[in-house]
Amino acid sequence: MKIAIIGTGYVGVVTAAVFAKLGHQVWGLDIDEKKIAQLQQGQVPFFEPGLDDLVQEGLKRKKLQFGSSYPKIVPQAEVILICVGTPPKDDGETDLTFVLEAARSLAPYLQAGTVVVVKSTVPPNTHQQVRKTIASLASRPFFVAVCPEFLVEGKAIKDTLKPSRVVIGADNPEVIEKLLVLHQGIGGKRIVCSPSSAQLLKYAANVFLGLKISFAYVMAELCERYGADIDEVVAGLGADPRIGEGHLRPGVGMGGSCLPKDIKSFDRWAGAEVTQGLFRAVEAINERQIERALQKVGDLIGPCQGKTIALLGLAFKANTDDLREAPSRKLIRQLLEQGAKLRAYDPQAMEGLKKDFPEVRYCTGPYETVEGADLVVLVTEWNEFKNLDWKRVKRLMKEANIVDGRNLWKREMLEEMGFKYEGFGR
Ligand code: UGA
Repeated sequence: MKIAIIGTGYVGVVTAAVFAKLGHQVWGLDIDEKKIAQLQQGQVPFFEPGLDDLVQEGLKRKKLQFGSSYPKIVPQAEVILICVGTPPKDDGETDLTFVLEAARSLAPYLQAGTVVVVKSTVPPNTHQQVRKTIASLASRPFFVAVCPEFLVEGKAIKDTLKPSRVVIGADNPEVIEKLLVLHQGIGGKRIVCSPSSAQLLKYAANVFLGLKISFAYVMAELCERYGADIDEVVAGLGADPRIGEGHLRPGVGMGGSCLPKDIKSFDRWAGAEVTQGLFRAVEAINERQIERALQKVGDLIGPCQGKTIALLGLAFKANTDDLREAPSRKLIRQLLEQGAKLRAYDPQAMEGLKKDFPEVRYCTGPYETVEGADLVVLVTEWNEFKNLDWKRVKRLMKEANIVDGRNLWKREMLEEMGFKYEGFGR
């Protein structure tokens, strides 16, 4: 099938590369010409494991192309997937500017019968705005459908090839059939539903995950107060198949371009009368985790003024270079305000912070980072931090203090070695 994908962010590039792998003829379209020039050379402008190879394979097999011209690309496509960003406005509502701009730009060049699919995460009934926008500019008949995306950064290719479900939100039987054919070769259950349900269920999924994580954060704090252990509590809780163990890990906070934004936007969209503060509480609990991390720092080393603190991991989670809403930013800002000297390392995500925080000393690996430090804070659970040579770490540090912001390390072993350790819910 000939498909165009508008927007070459995470979702756009991954979707384009995967559909090309499955044998479709794919064009990735973006108005950012610099990004397009990079992609045409097989360079992905962000880090996602395995994606460079997949893009290069698609380009080599001529199944994948990138360009910035709507008039050249749109007339060739039978299906167009809108994958542009939907950032939050200042008041937390979703900004649909890019989605509607894409709709306006593609409308004049559509072939008759093209299916325009909204894949960006948007509030329910946005498809109607998209349809109206295109209809005001298109001269041929077209269809609008909704196929939300469920990929998780860091394992995006696997998630796209083998998702838990493929949701097809469409009213027209021909469109449903076409989208079912498009997704052949992709695993997962098929959920065929109305476009409104498709949009709502995507929001519901992210908001529910946010609820679940914030619930784990609350439980972790209660564990600390009442001498329980969060791992044991989650094991018992998650054994109930109605609950499940997933997304119940405590820590310094949830970040990324999706959960924090979607929770805020969903809350504003749904209205206070309906939600009764439920999602505002999730936001507040998330903010509280940074305060808790700072409290733990204070408990171990007292006032931060003049102290050297080593931060391991900066990305909002492991296996990505994404720093959007990353807890590391908040932590760095507050620790600098308190007068700490910061050393930091992340395997992928340092470049994005250097401009905002030039005062931080960026290091080349974990051992250089902990040199002379009064305390180390683990912010992101990268695998390479899991099995550190702790004797070496202790030798290098000035004082042996640890705040394990993701419960990655073994408390007992570290305490036996003479470290002072603070985790979350342990
Ligand atoms: C999230 C959803 O998990 C995906 O299903 C969805 O497709 C995606 O948003 C999207 O809308 O595009 P992602 O933002 O990649 O995916 O990240 P998650 O793995 O959900 O993690 C979000 C944040 O919560 C991270 O900062 C992570 O460290 C934190 N987290 C996650 C926890 O603190 N505890 C957990 O148990 C899980």
